[in-house]
Amino acid sequence: MIKEIKKIGILTSGGDAPGMNAAIRAVTRTAILNNIDVVGIIAGYQGLISGEFISLSAKSVRGIIQNGGTILRSARSVEFRTVEGRKKGIENVKKEGIESLVVIGGDGTFRGANELMKECDIPIVGIPATIDNDIYGTEYTIGYDTCLNTIVSAMDKIRDTGSSHNRIFFVEVMGHDSGIVAMNSGLACGADLILIPEQKNQLEKTRHFLAERARQNKSSVIMVAEGIKEGTMAIAEKMKKEFTQFDIRISVLGYIQRGGSPSARDRILASELGVESVNALIKGEKGIMIGRLHGKNRYEPFTTAIKMHKYADSEFLRVAESIGTYTPTDD
Ligand code: F6P
Repeated sequence: MIKEIKKIGILTSGGDAPGMNAAIRAVTRTAILNNIDVVGIIAGYQGLISGEFISLSAKSVRGIIQNGGTILRSARSVEFRTVEGRKKGIENVKKEGIESLVVIGGDGTFRGANELMKECDIPIVGIPATIDNDIYGTEYTIGYDTCLNTIVSAMDKIRDTGSSHNRIFFVEVMGHDSGIVAMNSGLACGADLILIPEQKNQLEKTRHFLAERARQNKSSVIMVAEGIKEGTMAIAEKMKKEFTQFDIRISVLGYIQRGGSPSARDRILASELGVESVNALIKGEKGIMIGRLHGKNRYEPFTTAIKMHKYADSEFLRVAESIGTYTPTDD
């Protein structure tokens, strides 16, 4: 059913991701092309509560496709998790004449949208954007590809110094509770060992690995997902004590993984998803996230996108293993 929409609101929420601006640009321009006014909501759901809105035009989103971060700013709003907070948000949306919303972010963002939809009649469509790539219903999320490229370039530099000093480097990468970032960047960097939360006994595996390494006396790079149960620091410190012959160093890549100019792949994905989000609202869709699978757009209900978290496929480690990464499996 074609829906006549006069005004939509757009926000970015949760951890920022490179390519969010490209998505804002695509949503704004597609809406304007369809004679729909666009309102930017500042600082995610917090901006709904405080009523911080700006009008967006085709011109105001010019020259942002190449920029990391988000021109609308982002936040993890604690107040929005309360019924009272959401009530304030709904009042402001109605007052502003916003008829539909496009929310850009990760699973926390879609959880917020899902709650909001239970309490009001505002149609909401989501666009997956997080460096973690842990959202069910889409092959890739906006920001993930740029993040992998950032890690690869940092790791290449760490390797230079690591091999010059014959050191063992533990490099911690982001990914929240998923090992997808660590697994794929580890493969791309030729890491010697990859530790992910989806696998058990990471301490034991590291110990085996270093015992092997001790015989060869080689420098190594160990890619560690931040979500591993044992903790990067704890494992590295233990190994320092047990393998005193090694010069062990720890490098936490941190927030550089979230910044930077988006890759071509992220810009294209953001543009495709942005355009489709507005088309979906016009078609009368709501309560869905726009994903991409096998080169095609698809609609995933918020309910399943939230529930069915996406984790690293341990089978993939076998690919890394066959080209030199030490990846003992759980069995
Ligand atoms: O979800 C993106 C992410 O960067 C995770 O990889 C990380 O665990 C988290 O956000 C960090 O969040 P914050 O910005 O609140 O420190």
